[in-house]
Amino acid sequence: MTESPAQLHPPGPPDAPWWRDAVIYQVYPRSWADADGDGVGDLPGVTAHLEHLVDLGVDALWLSPFYRSPMVDAGYDVTDHRDVDPLFGTIDDADALIARAHDLHLKVVVDLVPNHTSREHPWFRAALEARPGSPERARYLFRDGRGPFGAQPPNNWRSVFWGPAWTKARSAVFDDDGNGATRLLHKAQWYLDLFDSGQPDLDWTNPEVRAEFDAILRFWLDRGVDGFRVDVAHGLVKREGLPDWDDRTRMAGVSDRPTRESPMWDQDGVHEIYRGWRATLEEYGRARPDGTPDPDSERILVAEAWVEPIERVALYVRPDEMHQAFNFHYLNAPWRAPDLKAAVGESLRGNDLVGAPTTWVLSNHDVVRHASRLGLPVDVPCPSGIGADDPQPDAELGLRRARAATTLMLALPGSAYLYQGEELGLPDHTALPDDVRQDPAFHRSGGRELGRDGCRIPMPWKGEAPAAGFNTTGETWLPQPACYAELAVDRQRGVEGSTLELYRTLLRVRRDRGLGRAGVAEVADTPPDVVAYDLQGIEGGGGEGPRTRVVLNLGEDPIRLPEGELLVTSGPLDAGRLPVDTAAWVALP
Ligand code: GLC
Repeated sequence: MTESPAQLHPPGPPDAPWWRDAVIYQVYPRSWADADGDGVGDLPGVTAHLEHLVDLGVDALWLSPFYRSPMVDAGYDVTDHRDVDPLFGTIDDADALIARAHDLHLKVVVDLVPNHTSREHPWFRAALEARPGSPERARYLFRDGRGPFGAQPPNNWRSVFWGPAWTKARSAVFDDDGNGATRLLHKAQWYLDLFDSGQPDLDWTNPEVRAEFDAILRFWLDRGVDGFRVDVAHGLVKREGLPDWDDRTRMAGVSDRPTRESPMWDQDGVHEIYRGWRATLEEYGRARPDGTPDPDSERILVAEAWVEPIERVALYVRPDEMHQAFNFHYLNAPWRAPDLKAAVGESLRGNDLVGAPTTWVLSNHDVVRHASRLGLPVDVPCPSGIGADDPQPDAELGLRRARAATTLMLALPGSAYLYQGEELGLPDHTALPDDVRQDPAFHRSGGRELGRDGCRIPMPWKGEAPAAGFNTTGETWLPQPACYAELAVDRQRGVEGSTLELYRTLLRVRRDRGLGRAGVAEVADTPPDVVAYDLQGIEGGGGEGPRTRVVLNLGEDPIRLPEGELLVTSGPLDAGRLPVDTAAWVALP
């Protein structure tokens, strides 16, 4: 292989702020560690296990919601954004977690859910009590129904979680007209809920809503959090008049038509909101003793925006808006070299347009884990969840590909997100009984969509302990599959070739070689079924950093490795050659 001058992405400056190349670990608090033994994870459990993250070598953690909630959508239905749900602990536990994380030099990113509240939120309860047209109703999207009495929903929008996106708040009201007949006083009113009927959408044209969320940001910034992952960031503003739209967006943003054509996603009006939030966050940066801004003190906004094409995602990370946006292109790319190359190239190019770092992610709490996803046939679209009656993933193949996918991902510059348990190679639970499923999408679709419970299973820490060390009582809100005990942290720690040790090595070498800020060039003359990039950073003094090549073999036979020192491989070599579905990092001479 010879080198290509084709630079895909320029190297970043060595003194850039922390978030430009941070590796951020998603903790799903329900399922990480359960200190009180009730079967649901909690904040004291998280605090007690933070050293795992230091040992792994990540920079930050992102916590999925732990706020007060009736848990219709696992906490993405918030009743009080300023308090911790008793299921997870107390506000003091949140403070203790943030303090301990900072002691360990870990940044803390929390989830912010601004598109909707819970239907139990005091605002929404007041709205239901109030009359149509009242200020209480104006915080949400209440509309009269269609038809003479308003018996039909106001438009044809469908919920991401199946069924209509409208719930009837009040039936039509009639009055006696004094002559023995009835008179329509008011049509039935409905409220918009793009997800579950327990998650009414807020009306972001209302200044009161904007002021409330600015205050919520400040509440958590004052408590010391380092950033916010913004849930459904592409959904806050709806097109004026709420026109009909025939398509249904499914979870993970999969839509039959581009999201920007839809009247509910990716409306240009969202950007003004984020510019305001950015200004709020900037107030919280610290100065260094010499008066210059301290890049380590920057607080960040991360958009969850299931938006296409990548140029539209880039709009969320313009210099005066969010810092990062999740990039789901790599996650969604089929396991084929041309698709992976296209996803990598587009991700880098799209973000470079606005000078933002790209992000990478392979798993989260909304998708089938990549160790399972990549064990399914490549040409079949991945389902939202896998059940006992479905074709089962090839576990060995899935894990091999998952390790290779991660090895490619962590070589690439930008910020990478890891989902709890992927460092153990955890698969989804692919045979959950229906009666334990909790995802609202499962219930609303009458089981046609299995939903996301399979990727949310409690984490195994100790192979021999009750609930594999998730707690000491053995209770778990979702059952763990038998293989989880084998994959527990203590079974893999220090074991050569384990997935945990692979992640630890990748993260250490990534840091040592400055890969997160490296420039990227495609390697010329690479066979069509091989993905290969050269990475090179800039040293503090301005000189060139070490050169690293990442190679992923998606062909049919093992291939020769490039000349140089082998740094890490995602799986064992075959007589010195790189096997199929395996990736390697090589230090180039
Ligand atoms: C986001 C969350 C998902 C949640 C949805 C509604 O996509 O990641 O878990 O169900 O928003 O809040």
